[in-house]
Amino acid sequence: MTTPLTFLGIESSCDDTAAAIVRAGERTEILSNVVEGQTSLHAAFGGVVPEIAARAHAERLDDCVERALSEAKLRIGQLDGIAVTAGPGLIGGVLSGVMLAKGLALAAGLPLVGINHLAGHALTPRLSDRLTFPYLMLLVSGGHCQFLVVRGPEEFKRLGGTIDDAPGEAFDKVAKMLGLAQPGGPHVEAEASGGDPARFLLPRPLLDRPGCDLSFSGLKTAVLRARDQLILQQNGLTRQDRRDLCAGFQTSVADVLAEKTRRAIVSYLQELPATPAFALAGGVAANMAIRAKLETVCNEFGLIFSAPPLRLCTDNAAMIAFAGIERFRLGQRDGMDLSARPRWPLDDSAPALIGSGKKGAKA
Ligand code: KG4
Ligand code: ZN
Repeated sequence: MTTPLTFLGIESSCDDTAAAIVRAGERTEILSNVVEGQTSLHAAFGGVVPEIAARAHAERLDDCVERALSEAKLRIGQLDGIAVTAGPGLIGGVLSGVMLAKGLALAAGLPLVGINHLAGHALTPRLSDRLTFPYLMLLVSGGHCQFLVVRGPEEFKRLGGTIDDAPGEAFDKVAKMLGLAQPGGPHVEAEASGGDPARFLLPRPLLDRPGCDLSFSGLKTAVLRARDQLILQQNGLTRQDRRDLCAGFQTSVADVLAEKTRRAIVSYLQELPATPAFALAGGVAANMAIRAKLETVCNEFGLIFSAPPLRLCTDNAAMIAFAGIERFRLGQRDGMDLSARPRWPLDDSAPALIGSGKKGAKA
């Protein structure tokens, strides 16, 4: 019988201010999950402005925590602990969360647990689908792209990752070059549904190289070249040109992710997992074409396919509260010296990927 534990989670590493309460025991329940996005604050700047983000977090965190407690119908004294994202991310935002969590833990006499934001994503399939260790994860978002074998709450082995852009970033840049709104992923997906993926011959980067590393910046440049050529030839783009470019780009991303997933699965299966499973997380997991292709790959190998609901794939604090409970059960606690870290790789033993994680703000 597992004793139920109830944790408050706090997340402020990029452009979502979030607080949530999770209770985990025999059953796991999300008692509240408050997320206040900042898209409108950054819209005019074409990207997240760290200073604006940090200020907004500092202004909104108290309110998010109060709402999370009140929606869960709990007082702070009824919690068993407080978990907070301590990195990686935009340092001003991470600091806002860490300082608030320290103050609350000290005032309420509760244990404090610092969480790696990426671990929060990586442990989410245990919260949503109760996956057992070890499982294979592909984390694909606006700032990250990596294959991980998740062996325990603090044990991650990176099998590969992007050496330049993350797929979400590439979706956003392609949207920008085609005049679509940001964040670009959903708009590119919508255009792609009416397009011919075979019209433009776009590259499948890094398939000729063994292993699971990925690259998306060359593909993005190839879309730019194809666009420029069309503009030169016909003085502009038709709606169908745009749809075909989106379809070609999306299919190329999906093909690359599928082939690299096959390789990652082969490597993961060497660990002889009792219940082989593959989980997808991050904003790009919302893409139906990518989701469907990866599910087919999992079926080829007989793996369970898990893609948590989107509200748990994108940044949220329920994943942080849950990861806090998982760490706490291992006997881990942090003191008032918990520091905020802009960079914090999950697998310290893996060599740095050239240029990857250069933003480190999103996952
Ligand atoms: O995980 P997330 O919400 O934020 C972080 O990056 O942390 O991911 C956002 C990214 C953006 O780049 C967005 O364009 C992409 O996920 N995205 C998509 C789709 N929905 C969101 N990319 C492709 N297809 C989608 N449907
Ligand atoms: Zn994230």
